[in-house]
Amino acid sequence: MTEANMTEALRFSIGDLRIGVATAPTQIEGGRRDTNWADWAGLPGRIKDGSTPLRATDHWNRWREDTELMSELGLELYRMGIEWSRIEPTPGDFDTEAIAHYREEIQAIRNAGIEPLVTLHHFSHPSWFEALGGWTSEVAVETWLRFVRFVVTHLDDLVTDWCTINEPNAFTTGGYLFGFFPPGRTDWLATRRVLATMAHAHCRAYHLIHDLQPHAKVGFAHHLRVFDPLDARNPVHRGLARVSAHLFQGAITDAFLGGRWSRLLGAQPADVTPGRHYDWLGVNYYSRTATSKLDDGTFANSPVNDLDWEIYPAGIERVARWLHERYPGPIWVTENGTCDATDSFRSRFIHDHLRVIAESDLPFERYYHWCFVDNWEWAEGEVPRFGIVALDYETQERTVKDSGRFLSSVIAHRGVTEEAYAAHVASQRYRVVAAPTPRG
Ligand code: FCB
Repeated sequence: MTEANMTEALRFSIGDLRIGVATAPTQIEGGRRDTNWADWAGLPGRIKDGSTPLRATDHWNRWREDTELMSELGLELYRMGIEWSRIEPTPGDFDTEAIAHYREEIQAIRNAGIEPLVTLHHFSHPSWFEALGGWTSEVAVETWLRFVRFVVTHLDDLVTDWCTINEPNAFTTGGYLFGFFPPGRTDWLATRRVLATMAHAHCRAYHLIHDLQPHAKVGFAHHLRVFDPLDARNPVHRGLARVSAHLFQGAITDAFLGGRWSRLLGAQPADVTPGRHYDWLGVNYYSRTATSKLDDGTFANSPVNDLDWEIYPAGIERVARWLHERYPGPIWVTENGTCDATDSFRSRFIHDHLRVIAESDLPFERYYHWCFVDNWEWAEGEVPRFGIVALDYETQERTVKDSGRFLSSVIAHRGVTEEAYAAHVASQRYRVVAAPTPRG
């Protein structure tokens, strides 16, 4: 096929969008007993299937195989995290072997032509940090920055793209407001304090990383969802949709990206000056909430995934536009993906979201699919399947799914060809729920 034919046969082109996958260390590495999540998983009833992060995908030992697989699929980007407890197993003592291990892995990733983006806090931290009070502690910011300084200094020649913190809103509402994440609290004041502390930590890290590495590109991965009123004519639903959006994402967007503290978050820290605190806009997008109370509802007759999250591709553009209007900058979709045990609609999900991105006039630069190999899904355990590669937890065998082949073909052809559409997407259908059971 000539290049011209190939372009003609494209259903849509992704232009310059670069594509890869995202992961988090606690969900893949296995083996660490000294984190807030391993401790939490050890308590009865906290994880739906009783699993722990100790097994996960054993990526700590299998990273070579995983890197080869990423390379085989032609992935261009890889978002990964550093497990803080490995690097600093006791306060102030840094493990040089652990950082050497990550260096070797990242070097291999680079050698495969894949660009790394490194996350510095993805829901997990050492048990000793939790014992200090975690992100409610007076010394949280300085303690985490000590770790950040160590990592950035030691990976300086291999990594320039940094994601400070993953989904502070999901971490905080899960851990401090609703209590289904560690440390299991339900306390509004603690929620507010943790959000404010994480924003403070991000703003400080933004400057610290630039001081250490002037050409660094720093941002954070913001969990953005669409909040629409369940009944658009109901003023209570409309009001609650606005309040939820502000509580869950508005106020912290201003603090993280603009260094501006609203009343909701408390006093402006003395060492944060309002101004730009990002080089790119990280968007983790999964779903929409039909709002009728302060919780997650789903519209009737919506397409949903295995976890009953609405599949709403237009939302990726809506949240990115909302963010970009307030804080202009290049958009990196740091996570987007779906839970689909049988891989029977994931390719359609990818197709539909990429199409929205491709048709948008917003500066989408990168797309990191969540996730690579099926992995340990926090409080949901080992059951949910988000990967483009299937995992057999018993044998640790990896098998590329049809959706993995589809994503690979999108990268190879710089878009979705008619052929790829026919082979991977055309026959796929979403499950539609006529009357969703109210959640929460
Ligand atoms: C996001 C998390 C990620 C994963 C996906 C499914 O909220 O950042 O670790 O759990 O959801």
